[in-house]
Amino acid sequence: MRNPIIVALDVPDIERARQLVRDLAPVVGAFKVGKELFVAAGPDVVRALGGLGFEVFLDLKFHDIPNTVAKAVSSAVRLDVQMLTVHTAGGHEMLAAAEEAAQRTAAQQGTEPPLVLGVTVLTSMDNENLVETGVESTVAQQVERLAMLAAKCGLRGLVCSPLEIALLRQVIPSNMQLVTPGIRPDGGGGDDQKRTLTPREAVEAGGDWLVIGRPIYQAENPRKAAEEIMASLK
Ligand code: C5P
Repeated sequence: MRNPIIVALDVPDIERARQLVRDLAPVVGAFKVGKELFVAAGPDVVRALGGLGFEVFLDLKFHDIPNTVAKAVSSAVRLDVQMLTVHTAGGHEMLAAAEEAAQRTAAQQGTEPPLVLGVTVLTSMDNENLVETGVESTVAQQVERLAMLAAKCGLRGLVCSPLEIALLRQVIPSNMQLVTPGIRPDGGGGDDQKRTLTPREAVEAGGDWLVIGRPIYQAENPRKAAEEIMASLK
């Protein structure tokens, strides 16, 4: 079985990231570099991970005019990341430009194009927050609408809440990959993730990749925590 665990390296500096990577490398599938670490440590952290042979998910959630996003995606492809994120709210042209840039730049350098993952509605948003931004649909309706838009624009994957997996699996093409944060091995509670599933529930619902941060990096023994999660999936 492929290891579906992507560890979120949500730490403020490269030293702490290195320590985690050393501990976890043999027992997880990939590492996610998000805004906190990228802004602090820059592309070197991505190069270092790639240089050690790890798959990297660059989670910078691009959202800008199509030309700017396309160039940012090309830069990410040159860093040799395997996954990256864009906001689907950026619209048709931006999404198509992102996917096209990923394919073209990868072809130019002779590598596999990364999965350009669409982010639909942030899990921190509820129906009222959507109304405040002028969106009258419910979160579920908006997630579905944006997921369909991403599929239409050629994206091959989405980031979604684990509770959205079942709904999305009914409407998106079956080959689209679903990457889900909001995973809690003990069923949840205790921090800011309110809508969670266990790793096993998320995989059974049709999730392809599990993004897991605090339950691993805040554990007393991160490696043991990751091993236990993997064992729970078998
Ligand atoms: O610590 P935790 O397991 O909650 O970390 C989840 C990771 O997934 C964090 O890096 C967070 O930024 C990211 N994420 C999320 N919810 C989203 C998108 C990304 O929690 N909707």
